[in-house]
Amino acid sequence: MTALLNIQSLTVDRGPARILDRVTLEVGQGETVALVGESGAGKSTIATAIMRLLGEAQTSGQITLDGAGDLLALRERDMVGLRGRRLSMIFQDAGAALNPSYTVGRQLISAVRRNLGLDKTAARARAIELMTQVGINDPEARLTAYPHQLSGGMQQRVMVAIALAADPDLLLADEPTSALDVTIQAQIVRLILAQTKARGAACIFVLHDLALASQACDRIVVLYAGQVVESGPARDVLENARHPYTRQLKSCVLEIGTRDLIAPEGTVPSHRDMPRGCRFATRCPRVQDRCWAEAPPLEGGAHSFACWNPE
Ligand SMILES: Nc1ncnc2c1ncn2[C@@H]1O[C@H](COP(=O)(O)OP(=O)(O)O)[C@@H](O)[C@H]1O
Ligand code: SF4
Ligand SMILES: [Mg+2]
Repeated sequence: MTALLNIQSLTVDRGPARILDRVTLEVGQGETVALVGESGAGKSTIATAIMRLLGEAQTSGQITLDGAGDLLALRERDMVGLRGRRLSMIFQDAGAALNPSYTVGRQLISAVRRNLGLDKTAARARAIELMTQVGINDPEARLTAYPHQLSGGMQQRVMVAIALAADPDLLLADEPTSALDVTIQAQIVRLILAQTKARGAACIFVLHDLALASQACDRIVVLYAGQVVESGPARDVLENARHPYTRQLKSCVLEIGTRDLIAPEGTVPSHRDMPRGCRFATRCPRVQDRCWAEAPPLEGGAHSFACWNPE
């Protein structure tokens, strides 16, 4: 598979805190990759770094997008040209991301016009087509609705339509369903993945549900405290997890039977007290002396993990 996006050794510091530590991640053309891990692991930071919207943070490493080079080295002007067109992001809370003072039609049509350069009539037709594809009934009538007149699920569908307006090569979906009812979450996740697959687009999906990730995505990347601890084909990672943290995530989700991630016992160490060796050492049932002293490298082929004493 040709790499669409290749992240090498991405490190992000905010003051003294190392938020991401040498993150390496590859996304093939048309591939869907789930990013999983507890709150604070750095998932949103990865997505935001790809869009180059991190603001003040110190960033090093490379984020290479096929045909565009290293995004971290591009001029802002060139990044502006990529956002929306080749890279597109769906945020957690559609209600907050949509502008409350404009109709959804106006927002969707302007995204279509901005990115595809269509005239008004063609853009309106394209907007209606997109709304139909994301499962919005009676799209013509909905064009004149304001965001608050739609349910959370419908608002998120509008956001999906806006994100897909320009047929991006890579869609970044950052927990796009966490503000929605549990029953609608899986439906929207599947919709986003079906629509990206139908367009041959790739997707990085920040998901809390390891089981859903394994059913819906090609690959899973597990993050802990800013580091990739395990990565591989989705089924492999779910059924043959090697890193103790992945095992814990898996048993928590399955035992409780909830769609939300229940964190394993204990807490992620603060950036001030991060262990020098393996960052998971403070919570790991398999910890050994070596773990405290030396950080395990991420090793292996298609299925890789960073652990001195894997399961
Ligand atoms: N704007 C910010 N300023 C300072 N720290 C931040 C900022 N954004 C995120 N962080 C910190 O970076 C870490 C990773 O955050 P984030 O990427 O949002 O994690 P996730 O999306 O996995 O929950 C957390 O410790 C968080 O507190
Ligand atoms: S390296 Fe050691 S502490 Fe870290 S996950 Fe593996 S066994 Fe646990
Ligand atoms: Mg986040």
